[in-house]
Amino acid sequence: VSTSKLGDIRRAGKANQQFFHDMVAFQYDHFFDFPRVPRKTDGPPIPFSQMHRNQAVLHSLVREWSSEGAEEREQCFAPIMEQLATHLPVNAPGSVLAGATDTNYKYKVLVPGCGLGRLPIEIAARGYCCQGNEFSVYMILASNYMLNGNLAADHHTIHPWADKICNVVAAADPVMPVQVPDRTANAILSTRFEGTGVEPPEDGDLPFPKFSFAAGDFVQLYGAASHAGQWDCVVTCFFLDTAPVVMEYIETIHRMLRSGGIWINMGPLLYHWQADVANHNQQQDHQAQSKKGGKGSGKGKGKGKGNNGQSQPPDDDGSDERYQQSVELSYEEVKHVVQGFGFRYLHEELGRPCYYSQDRRSMMNTLYSTALFTVKKL
Ligand SMILES: C[S@@+](CC[C@H](N)C(=O)[O-])C[C@H]1O[C@@H](n2cnc3c(N)ncnc32)[C@H](O)[C@@H]1O
Repeated sequence: VSTSKLGDIRRAGKANQQFFHDMVAFQYDHFFDFPRVPRKTDGPPIPFSQMHRNQAVLHSLVREWSSEGAEEREQCFAPIMEQLATHLPVNAPGSVLAGATDTNYKYKVLVPGCGLGRLPIEIAARGYCCQGNEFSVYMILASNYMLNGNLAADHHTIHPWADKICNVVAAADPVMPVQVPDRTANAILSTRFEGTGVEPPEDGDLPFPKFSFAAGDFVQLYGAASHAGQWDCVVTCFFLDTAPVVMEYIETIHRMLRSGGIWINMGPLLYHWQADVANHNQQQDHQAQSKKGGKGSGKGKGKGKGNNGQSQPPDDDGSDERYQQSVELSYEEVKHVVQGFGFRYLHEELGRPCYYSQDRRSMMNTLYSTALFTVKKL
């Protein structure tokens, strides 16, 4: 039994490796000015302390780009779409009354911390000019592959839970295959005008591209004066708690929105930079190092999350100064700050249950009780 189990895990690992190989090869073919994809012999493999980032990519692929993730997407994305449609409605293609303005692709929406880009492309597919933003290079490379790789549906088979050894029900569960993408980015984008008889506008005829992606830190990019008052909407999904100082995110969102612009938030407050994470990380590092049989060299400056299941296990040793800066406000305090900046609440709902990158076959799952709110810049 164990021999066949090890063989299955080995094959699962190879399939995962094939995904990463193809993802990197795609970047080399289209974006990098290097002659070929690096080989194993070219340099050291990813340090042990960074390997969870590849796992985070595999888990996000399930959440965002597989049919297994449909339930999670429905829990988070559907209420966001409802809020968008209620507070920033766009007319159906071809349904504009004489004299009225066609609002298709007239509103500019930003999704910071968008992971692998599914939420922004779904928003663009509903008639908004939408930009995704991400700062993790792992997420940027994988989202680029998913969005621009021209992959057919179910092109890749991955085994996202192949490293799981605890809380397993059936021996085959960890090597369960998952197909990605469930739908291509093109198919998602083209649904809006299908069967309407209306020709979708060309990007060149619009004030902004229908879909775009910006790589970089949210506050550094969108805190720039050139963004002030330029956006109609910001959508944050499982993102607010990635701020070392949450007031900086709120300030940036307020500054970049036009007056009357809206901010839709969905997610918990699992602050990524809380000091506990640093302490926990030190313990984890010790464990990892003792498993390796010695002290590793890596002093990660990673954007690790805690032991929460939300996305990434920690890898930082606590030396990143953001752990010392971290401000962990309660939801009520966040609300107070949001109102203090000059936002008015249009909608508020606490306690919406949401999973985040969970293996639903596992004997242990984390269910978040999230906050959904929509506020308007006065
Ligand atoms: C918890 S994940 C949520 C991903 C996605 N919104 C979802 O709901 O599936 C948070 C994401 O925000 C990104 N992130 C964290 N801090 C960021 C920052 N300052 N600027 C841009 N992206 C950031 C992380 O890399 C990660 O992909």
